[in-house]
Amino acid sequence: MLDNALQYTPSGGQIDVTAVSDGREVTFTVADTGIGIPESDLERIFERFYRVDAARSREAGGTGLGLAIARHIVDAHKGRIWVESAVGQGSRFHFSVACAR
Ligand SMILES: Nc1ncnc2c1ncn2[C@@H]1O[C@H](COP(=O)(O)OP(=O)(O)OP(=O)(O)O)[C@@H](O)[C@H]1O
Ligand SMILES: [Mg+2]
Repeated sequence: MLDNALQYTPSGGQIDVTAVSDGREVTFTVADTGIGIPESDLERIFERFYRVDAARSREAGGTGLGLAIARHIVDAHKGRIWVESAVGQGSRFHFSVACAR
């Protein structure tokens, strides 16, 4: 998520990382002010090799595996992972896992 925030946010943008716990689960968020993701792509970006627009992200040179791996790791911890984004406004990636007890 951090790597993506850096890759897909032009210089001068902002990236915020937060962790919030309600005592039951902790939610991590990586928020950026970058290029954003079209609504029609949001449900697919966690799939292996899926990249929103090969042309726009070609220079970044990614494989489209980062978020698929992130989802597998979070699933293995019985957590949740999701994203909110709007083109030109930025993205907010979140994952939640249960607190240790
Ligand atoms: N923070 C973000 N802002 C805008 N688009 C993003 C962001 N994070 C992911 N994306 C889009 O989702 C796609 C999938 O992300 P993912 O991390 O799985 O692959 P990748 O970054 O292309 O390659 P890599 O395997 O090197 O991570 C990206 O290609 C990009 O189009
Ligand atoms: Mg990536």
